[in-house]
Amino acid sequence: MKLRKPLAACALLLCMSAHCIPVHAEEPLFFRMGGEAKLKAAVDELVVVMLADERINFVFANTELTKFKHLLYTQLCELAGGPCIYDGRDMRSAHAKLPISNAHFNALTEDLYLAFDRVGVSYSLQNQMIALLAPMQRDIVKR
Ligand code: HEM
Repeated sequence: MKLRKPLAACALLLCMSAHCIPVHAEEPLFFRMGGEAKLKAAVDELVVVMLADERINFVFANTELTKFKHLLYTQLCELAGGPCIYDGRDMRSAHAKLPISNAHFNALTEDLYLAFDRVGVSYSLQNQMIALLAPMQRDIVKR
């Protein structure tokens, strides 16, 4: 009897009566984006873009950027299903003393798209990452 090839890459089999079809479980967004190197490059680029963005750069005047980059990286990595544990503050506490408006939030989102573009992450994957951040808006924005 000829054996079927093992379905190593398939996490699930969908079976109906005697028939099974492989269901490919999608890789986490973190790996589809390019993993640690790509996400770290995107966070570095975001900091370059946002510090040049006069709509929001003043908000970061007293921020310790090395720590900020590390925290943002681990947060995005964890959210995207990567092997990281975010150990920073929750979004409400982290932004509590900052005068952040919806316009500022939208500006940072635009900067994030630009940063992802510059490091070569596809628009479709950018949208998936941004969609994970969108629910945080209500905890970050004051007015
Ligand atoms: C979804 C959007 C955002 C995410 C995911 C995010 C994420 C973070 C993270 C992880 C930290 C570090 C938390 C910690 O220190 O424990 C942080 C801090 C900070 N964020 Fe955001 N942030 C967002 C939006 C914004 C916006 C729109 C602004 C301003 C335009 C902003 C300004 C800052 C500043 C200035 C700090 C440093 C605060 C400090 O040093 O005490 N963030 N953010």
